[in-house]
Formats: sequence, C-alpha cells, structure tokens
Amino acid sequence: MSTVVAADAASQDSPDTILASLPGPAPRAAFVSQGAFLYLDTFLPADVTAKLIAGVHAVEGAVNRNYLPGHKQGGSVSRHKIDELAPAIAQLYRSPILIQWLETLCGEPLQPSPDDDPHAYALYFYTKPGDHIGWHYDTSYYDGRRYTLLLGVIDDSSCFLEYRLHTRDDNVRITEDAVQIPPGGMVFFDGDRLHHRITPLRANERRVSLTFEYVTNPHMRPIQRFMSNMKDAVAYFGFRQVFRQLVGKRTSQA
Ligand SMILES: [Fe+2]
Repeated sequence: MSTVVAADAASQDSPDTILASLPGPAPRAAFVSQGAFLYLDTFLPADVTAKLIAGVHAVEGAVNRNYLPGHKQGGSVSRHKIDELAPAIAQLYRSPILIQWLETLCGEPLQPSPDDDPHAYALYFYTKPGDHIGWHYDTSYYDGRRYTLLLGVIDDSSCFLEYRLHTRDDNVRITEDAVQIPPGGMVFFDGDRLHHRITPLRANERRVSLTFEYVTNPHMRPIQRFMSNMKDAVAYFGFRQVFRQLVGKRTSQA
C-alpha cells in the first residue's frame, strides 16, 4: 500500500516538491565582493543530487561530442534531450525555491531562458582524456544579463574550474583561483564577467556537470539568436539538436 502512495507522489512531482529547501540566506555580500561570483561546495540536498545523477545515466545515449582544436573537447546534452529523458532536471531548473534563492543572491529578478534555447539547461560530459574547455566567458546574447548556475553532479576527476575575477572592472585588481565542484556543490556567476575554463581530464577519470542559465530579459534580436544557435550547434549539441526545434516550428506553422 505504501508503495502505491509513493508512486503516486512521484508522478505528481512539481517544481516545489523536488526541492524543499536550500542553505540560507543567500550570501549576497560575498557574491558582490567577488565581482558577481560565488562558489559553494555544498548546495543541493543529497536526495536532489541523487536525482541528477539518475538523470545523467538516463541521457548517456544522447551525448553529442565536439572537438574544437585549441578550445574545447567533450560531450553535451541539450535541454531538448533532457526534457525527453530526464524531466526531473527540468523540474529543478524551474523550482521557485531555487530561482528565489538565486534572485536574492544576484539582487535582480531572474527568468528561465526561453523554450527554444537549447542551452537553458544542459549537461556537460568529460569522459575522455583531454576533455576540457578553454578560457571563455558565458556571453549573453540576450538583451539583458545571463547568469550561469553550474552544479556538480559526478566528479571522479582532477579537473579544476579555473577563474579570474574582476577582469572587466578597471578599479579592482584581477584575482585568479581554482575550484573543484563536488556533487551537490555549485558556482553561480554573471556570464559576461567571469573569465573561466575547465582543465583537461586525465585517463580513467570522469566528470559530469549541469548548467542552468537564467536571464534578466528573455528577448534576443534575430542576428544574436542566429549567432547563439550556431555556437550551440558547433561547440555543444550538433545541428540536429539545435535546429530541430526551429524546423518543427516552421512545419507546424505551414
Ligand atoms: Fe562556461
């Protein structure tokens, strides 16, 4: 009897039931003093992290690998595949508890990225020696800011997130540091302000992280949308995953 009740409860999971609480209050002063960046080695409850790990296993057959010489090597799964195969991750992305906590941290209202953004939430797979991503910003192609929440899911690796704070602030000395993000840990930052990279994976290592992207203004001009889609197709998810949604839209409108 109790098994039936548990199954019913699971099938009715809402964004609110996947996440009951977060460590609080959000440490806004630390976020501001570090130039719109925060690292916490403990963030998500263990049961939520367990659901994310189950989601990773569910999408393993849908990983798209890319190799951009001198910049990036690794696998990615877009939000479209996550919607199909790991809906609990999509539920967590929309959790009001999570979004409100992040709004307190960054000090402004946040919205989920639009439905046609393949990068709204995505999994990054570092599974082969040399998998990495070089120095970059998470550039916003939106009219407003774009914040990245990077969650540790699986980390049996020597990879580091290396980052540089205050690179775009002439009045503050640039500082560099490096962290590993354990399962349940996080970093959160303004994508246009944090210069960062992931160092290369070594043999017999494995690392999977989950990115959530939130925006302050979901509008994007058409040329910016084209550039964003091309970047996602070439560097992350492949043309099929990125442009399938657009082709589907045109077909349904015809
Ligand atoms: Fe990044």
